[in-house]
Amino acid sequence: MKIIIDTDPGQDDALTILLALASPEIELLGVTTVSGNVDVDQATINALKTMELGGRPDIPVCRGAERPLLRAPVNATHVHGRTGFEGADLPDPVTMASSEHAVDFLIRSVMENPVGAITICAIGPMTNLALALSREPALRTRIGRIVTMSGAFSEVGNITPSAEFNIYVDPHAAAIVLESGIPITMLPLDVTHTLHTSAARMARLAAIPNRVGPVVADWLRFEKRFEANKYGTDGGPLHDPNTVLWLLKPDLYRGRQVNVRVETGSELTMGMTVVDWWGISNLPKNVLFLRTCDVDAAYDLIAERLARF
Ligand code: BDR
Ligand code: CA
Repeated sequence: MKIIIDTDPGQDDALTILLALASPEIELLGVTTVSGNVDVDQATINALKTMELGGRPDIPVCRGAERPLLRAPVNATHVHGRTGFEGADLPDPVTMASSEHAVDFLIRSVMENPVGAITICAIGPMTNLALALSREPALRTRIGRIVTMSGAFSEVGNITPSAEFNIYVDPHAAAIVLESGIPITMLPLDVTHTLHTSAARMARLAAIPNRVGPVVADWLRFEKRFEANKYGTDGGPLHDPNTVLWLLKPDLYRGRQVNVRVETGSELTMGMTVVDWWGISNLPKNVLFLRTCDVDAAYDLIAERLARF
């Protein structure tokens, strides 16, 4: 399957890219960057470093939106560190970003490929995607699926009491994407908060006899410092990699096709995902909203894929 990863790396974003690179089922056409965890310049450097770590500097990295559609940028350096990659230092990239803007790359790739051929893996704020959809409405019928780590139902919020980070940073973009009619799979906090980066799981990744496993373990151990303290668990959550894991093995996850909308009006609940889990409205069931994961099997898959580098 052909995918494009739209991302704001971030340690967990980098693991997502690496899992895609390690998976023969996936053809990664390109990586597009966006302002989120860190600003878009740092996100682009981090994406380039990840492609070099994964041995695929030939795959294009395209710099995207510098700021959300309407709101001021918000970052998450309190979770990911100043560079977004704290925990494991990687050499400065020798590869340059593509001269093509992320939005142009998204539009061109989708228009040049057969209808439905491309899946977008959206693991940052959805600014680039919303801009692409606004500029080229044909994308609505040509993108096969969007698989996104974002949103929450019972876990509610991680950047405010009511909102998940990726949606909160650009709620207007998320609303455009959710209303686009494109098939969407959402991996929300309900799932990601169950994949604890426990000491034993990190030790297993660190013991993989190549360069990638130990780097990933060090990255996730850094992220955990903030998140595990916050949630009081052995290890922090694991967010973005669930998108690629779902593409590889959808049976690991359970959920329902439901209506999901985004709050864009209230400052108190800005970016909240309103999930019609009980089918109370007659609104279109626009999202496959996943709630649970076979966590041990997910970590087995991560370890197996990282061992391939
Ligand atoms: C999301 O926010 C970022 O900090 C992570 O990379 C993930 O995409 C989790 O809310
Ligand atoms: Ca991310």
